[in-house]
Amino acid sequence: MTERTIIITGGNSGLGYQAALGIARAWQNDTIIIASRNQQKASVAAETIIAETGNHNVHARTLDLGSLQSVRKFAADFKESNLPPLYALVCNAGVNPTKTSYTKEGFESTFGVNYLGHFLLANLLLGSIVAKGRIVFVSSDTHNPPKLFPFPAPSFTDIEPLAHPATDSNALLRYPTSKLLDLMAAYSMSEKATAQTDKQITVNAFNPGLMTSTGLNGDSGANRVMKATMNAFSYLIGRHGSAEQSGRQLAETVTSESYDGVTGKYIDRGNIVASSPASYDKAAQAKLWQQSLALAQVTADETILE
Ligand SMILES: NC(=O)c1ccc[n+]([C@@H]2O[C@H](COP(=O)([O-])OP(=O)(O)OC[C@H]3O[C@@H](n4cnc5c(N)ncnc54)[C@H](OP(=O)(O)O)[C@@H]3O)[C@@H](O)[C@H]2O)c1
Repeated sequence: MTERTIIITGGNSGLGYQAALGIARAWQNDTIIIASRNQQKASVAAETIIAETGNHNVHARTLDLGSLQSVRKFAADFKESNLPPLYALVCNAGVNPTKTSYTKEGFESTFGVNYLGHFLLANLLLGSIVAKGRIVFVSSDTHNPPKLFPFPAPSFTDIEPLAHPATDSNALLRYPTSKLLDLMAAYSMSEKATAQTDKQITVNAFNPGLMTSTGLNGDSGANRVMKATMNAFSYLIGRHGSAEQSGRQLAETVTSESYDGVTGKYIDRGNIVASSPASYDKAAQAKLWQQSLALAQVTADETILE
């Protein structure tokens, strides 16, 4: 039996895979769960990590963040399993679809997968995380774009237009907004976990920089143009990342002692930095939290937070 369990959503590819690899390598006596909607891809990733690191405690488990039912099943199965105590949850999985799509419960996918599924998952698992454990939400530079980027900085006013956007809404804002919500949830959860529990669990957000080598930016027409533009901009302003390097830095947010006690922060590839002004709006954070609880129908016995 290993000592701890670490769950990484979307750990079968890109940034999440590199982070899972880094954690498995650093912590040979711990269990790594690759939580992914595609069991076959996740199993291949787990086997590859085992072969590369010699850590035999890497497992694939099915989780579809685009289904709140699947999120609840994943959390329930984890709690019923005899896996070692949960030390960390890395909320990494993400999508940036070119066409409007919806989750099983009918929420716009970018919002539902990147944000709401993770919001529910973190709430469901928080009570299982050991003292001094860690939660990390993967956010993005796009939540706070430099002036020349081809979309404005997102802000949060109400959850309904994000969950069920109007047909004429600006689709380019969906992804950056979902990453703003991840940040705001990290800040709220950090504050609530500190105030309402004595477990000293830390909750932070992570920015990997722009990684054009991963699956996220896709290869279809509109995305190719966006990808090329973002790529050029990110090099120009020094915001480019690689999945390998950013994955190692994401792994360190779980394994490194340098993050002991660090909570409610935005970690940009190893450096604690400020996020957008909108992300620190306390009234917006509180509204987002309450509306998210309602939308995901989180019951009082599902979360240890108020
Ligand atoms: N790439 C960038 O430039 C960039 C920049 C800033 C932040 N990020 C963030 O980094 C994170 C990782 O993205 P990436 O760049 O590594 O892209 P990626 O290679 O496409 O990885 C995304 C992962 O999320 C998983 N996923 C997607 N939908 C899911 C669902 N419904 N349920 C469970 N898992 C699901 C994917 O699984 P499948 O293999 O089944 O699709 C995949 O493992 C995301 O949160 C993204 O927003 C990326």
